[in-house]
Amino acid sequence: METRYNVMKKVREINSAEEKTLLAYTCVHGCAQNEADMENIRGMLMEMGYGFTDTPETADVIVVNTCAVREGAEFKIYGNVGAFKKIKEKNPNLVIVLCGCMMQQESVARKIKHSYPYVDIVFGTFNIADFPLMLYKKLTGTKRVFEMLTEGKIVEGMPTVRENKFSASVSVMSGCNNFCSYCIVPYTRGRERSRQFDAIINEIKGLAKEGYVEITLIGQNVNSYGKDLADKPTFAKLLRAVNDIEGIKRIRFVTSHPKDLSDELIEAMAQCKNVCKQLHLPFQAGNNKILKLMNRKYTKEQYLALVEKIKAAIPDISLTTDVIVGFPGETTEDFEDTMDVLHKVKYDGVYSFIYSRRGGTPAAKMEDVISEEEKHKNLERLLEEQKEIGYENNLKYMDNVYEVLVEGKSKSNDNMLSGRTEDNKIIHFEGDESLIGTFVNIKITKIKTFYMVGERI
Ligand code: SAH
Ligand code: SF4
Ligand code: F3S
Repeated sequence: METRYNVMKKVREINSAEEKTLLAYTCVHGCAQNEADMENIRGMLMEMGYGFTDTPETADVIVVNTCAVREGAEFKIYGNVGAFKKIKEKNPNLVIVLCGCMMQQESVARKIKHSYPYVDIVFGTFNIADFPLMLYKKLTGTKRVFEMLTEGKIVEGMPTVRENKFSASVSVMSGCNNFCSYCIVPYTRGRERSRQFDAIINEIKGLAKEGYVEITLIGQNVNSYGKDLADKPTFAKLLRAVNDIEGIKRIRFVTSHPKDLSDELIEAMAQCKNVCKQLHLPFQAGNNKILKLMNRKYTKEQYLALVEKIKAAIPDISLTTDVIVGFPGETTEDFEDTMDVLHKVKYDGVYSFIYSRRGGTPAAKMEDVISEEEKHKNLERLLEEQKEIGYENNLKYMDNVYEVLVEGKSKSNDNMLSGRTEDNKIIHFEGDESLIGTFVNIKITKIKTFYMVGERI
């Protein structure tokens, strides 16, 4: 680790010869894991003497952390990078860096190398901690630095710049061993690697001392946390230990795979008072034939039974999910099973996407049975019916008072603040900016589909 800090010091020395503080623009696509990685990248940038800017035009270094989960995500990133060409023409000293899941695919890295000559540094998901060394190489004369690894260990003690001072994400594991047949993540993130139990707890204790009140534990499959560690601590045990840390009032976690969600975890959730009554539990599809083709390792009936068990143990729990529409082989009749799960569970939020073919995954070779148009029609229907379910779920909040952690100004109305309840409902209300990061009591006065409005009492 010390040598890493030495490299960062060297870059800082190079940068300090400039008249002004150099600026970094960072842009992150994809999931919470990518966001957590970006916090480390920003930490390293700060350690190397960079300030931050919100406009790429004023930047001396641009870092884009990429996502490969769907084709649409990749298109967006190519568009992004294309726009940086003009900025580089005006500022030839600009260093453009691409990293993350998309770069981890050989074909993409090759394309960037040949068709995007103005991109200076490319690395993947396994060697983020080597970024300072790559930047040092670039700043001391190497024309382009492309460094990709296919595996890597978790690096502890990375510098971190967090988004705010009250809510923090803490990575507990990376990688995924599940190989759902549609999914690129096991290829871009490698096998599951858990962080040491004590390292996680110490990090959170440090955050509590700094005044953080909310922690989100993240990993692609947090329920299998610890299986690769010597003494095999379970995720439930980790949750209980975080629950005991003074000052941490809200604990959330993403993402859970239904097949690994144990009774021990349900019990821990029910008993730990700081663990929020909220669970993201992706089911992906309702039809058993499709679930089998997806390699999800559960049936519709098993999933619904699990939901019943959770609801019985934790009444009022708020459930959200992910759904893929139009998986190869899925007919509209099969899709009815997905709608059936939606109506039975009554989720508070559904993230749904049309299936996107990912090269190298088993599903990429499977054949479609319905047209793209029909898939879109099914997705539209899902969105419409889910809107109604979400709205109806929200009705029970009317006139009641909830403790809300204030997150910031509302995006749609500058005079309003926005925060969340324990069960992750977004609440808008009038208030002063000084309330950001504190808990306030809000009485709900208006019900909407994706948020609610209230007033301070
Ligand atoms: N590990 C998490 C989610 C990872 S990816 C889990 O298992 O739940 C996030 C979501 O993207 C998935 O839940 C899935 O719904 C969606 N997704 C992944 N691959 C996809 C693909 N090829 N096409 C469409 N959606 C996909
Ligand atoms: Fe992808 Fe499945 Fe792993 Fe989630 S559990 S990251 S969907 S392979
Ligand atoms: Fe995307 Fe990689 Fe996350 S593919 S969803 S950024 S793990």
